[in-house]
Amino acid sequence: MHIAFFDSGVGGLTVLHEAMKKMPGERFIYFGDARNAPYGTRTKKEIRNLVFDAVEFLAGKGVKALVLACNTATSAAVTELREKYDFPIIGMEPAVKPAVENSREHKVLVCATDLTLKEEKLNNLVRDLNAGDKVDYLSLQELVMFAEHFKLNGQEVSAYLKEKLSQPDWNNYDSIVLGCTHFIFFREQIRKLVPDRVCILDGNEGTVNNLMTKIEICNSPDGKEIQYYISGERAEAGYYRKYLDYLLQADTLKGQML
Ligand code: SIN
Repeated sequence: MHIAFFDSGVGGLTVLHEAMKKMPGERFIYFGDARNAPYGTRTKKEIRNLVFDAVEFLAGKGVKALVLACNTATSAAVTELREKYDFPIIGMEPAVKPAVENSREHKVLVCATDLTLKEEKLNNLVRDLNAGDKVDYLSLQELVMFAEHFKLNGQEVSAYLKEKLSQPDWNNYDSIVLGCTHFIFFREQIRKLVPDRVCILDGNEGTVNNLMTKIEICNSPDGKEIQYYISGERAEAGYYRKYLDYLLQADTLKGQML
């Protein structure tokens, strides 16, 4: 059986990419709801309906686990989905815990979509960590549609990020949490715009580690099969391939710098 990944669009590919590295013998299904992206500016009710439809479609394929590779969808629907389905459902959690634990002197800046920032899931996480006075928030919602249109760098993205990241006083922060899977595509641009001592964290590795504790991992030599589904007009073959190639290229560059 396959492991399913769902996102409002292409952001979840960054989580799939992580899973492919850690579980090379697995088979995956990826579904991006590109027609309805972005989710972050929708109401919770709308998102919940879209996610339930998508998960019903994926469940019909007979999956052994589902990764809700979208912070916004997780915030809006994960609890109810777990009540409905009996396969493991792994949601995204912004890496606030490690960020707070590592930030002894300064604060943590959580960057996410509009909906994730106002949902109780994130507020509960911060409250449970007793970290209300250590965490600030910044919406980088526009990055979602830049990613959806494969604008992963260039003038428009760089002007947006420069404007948004000039707002915080960086003397007050020592980490940034990327709380949206779409934002991972912009990690290098963000890196260049904040002081070197500021750590940039995301929840992708933690999510895949969590997934691996919940399933029997398949080591089939004929694994690596990925079925892609996409809603809307961009459903042509190869649409996702360019994003995965971009992530693989970033891995190669990182490897060369180590
Ligand atoms: C969005 O569709 O607005 C972003 C989804 C996410 O949080 O990854």
